[in-house]
Amino acid sequence: MNITLSVIKADVGGYVGHSSTHPEVLEKAQQCLEGARGQDLLMDFHVTNCGDDLQLIMTHQQGEDDERIHKLAWDTFIECTKVARKLKLHGAGQDLLSDTFSGNVKGMGPGVAEMQFDEREAETVIIFMADKTSAGAWNLPLYKMFADPFNTIGLVIAANMHSGFSFEVHDVKENKKIIFHAPEEIYDMLVFIGAPSRYVVKAVHHRDTKEVAAVSSTQRLALIAGRYVGKDDPVCIVRSQGQFPAVGEVLEPFTVPFMVEGWMRGSHHGPLMPVSIAQANPSRFDGPPRVVSVGFQLASGKLVGPRDMFDDPSFDEARRQANEVANYLRWHGPFEPHRLPLEEMEYTTMPQVMKKLEGRFVDF
Ligand code: F6R
Ligand code: MG
Ligand code: MG
Repeated sequence: MNITLSVIKADVGGYVGHSSTHPEVLEKAQQCLEGARGQDLLMDFHVTNCGDDLQLIMTHQQGEDDERIHKLAWDTFIECTKVARKLKLHGAGQDLLSDTFSGNVKGMGPGVAEMQFDEREAETVIIFMADKTSAGAWNLPLYKMFADPFNTIGLVIAANMHSGFSFEVHDVKENKKIIFHAPEEIYDMLVFIGAPSRYVVKAVHHRDTKEVAAVSSTQRLALIAGRYVGKDDPVCIVRSQGQFPAVGEVLEPFTVPFMVEGWMRGSHHGPLMPVSIAQANPSRFDGPPRVVSVGFQLASGKLVGPRDMFDDPSFDEARRQANEVANYLRWHGPFEPHRLPLEEMEYTTMPQVMKKLEGRFVDF
């Protein structure tokens, strides 16, 4: 059976501040999508949140970039924004950068990851969702899952994975894309994906079967809006088991709270802390950045789950380390490299401060 799995997300208002999502917002989203299931549009759906980001996980048979699915997500965000306004939640409608829907939510603020595939006999999928960080946060874990044999032993000893995976990498500043083949081109690829603020892994495919293995959301809000309007808080879908990395290989990269950009005012480096859904409420210095993961088995498009994958004591150590790294970085206050480099600051107060001081900069 051919299925499309769409994850579309937006920050439509935070509770409290930017730390989490109000239950009434989640309830409204649930109602909106329930209505669409009634109209035969959706096969199944799951509504959740990671911090202040509302996540719509949907299965259907309309394919990727489908206008009806995107409109459903957009309309849901609009309805949820109304709830957010009524409750005077913080930053109501924050990610909806336009007043009118024009066929596709891409470029309009919400984040999108979609993949179309033939559902396998057992179709295991894991969806990662992050808050207080940017598109590009998945580069390192996707590399480790699909190209690093120290992470994924299946690359070495599983015959159906030994030929490797290809990575579609997007240059989000120049709007160009390139495909790299792992393992033979990993050194070339790392030159680019090691700079995740510009080069973002959009998709991963199996080298032999060409099957889609992973897809991420790559929109950069600041580049769309030309100013700081909140961080992208990206999502990523990964297929698992069989010809793809096993669940444990997919989760393994998150045992180290690697450094990402985001956190307070989207302007800092901080550790990405893997947490359960219940713990995805970033509050310390509006963080540290969080990642949650929900796992499903698909049964003819039905989402059997979710299983809250980081709700596991084996990630306690990563959480503890994240707090340690957070303490260390916070000590630096407004200094780099805790604060992001200057070019990223162009989307915050930097231009105004520069303008104010223009006449006072003199040659020396
Ligand atoms: C980071 C984030 C928060 C806000 C901060 C200020 O992604 O959302 O750290 O930037 O709380 O928020 P405003 O400007 O809405 O008061
Ligand atoms: Mg917010
Ligand atoms: Mg957010």
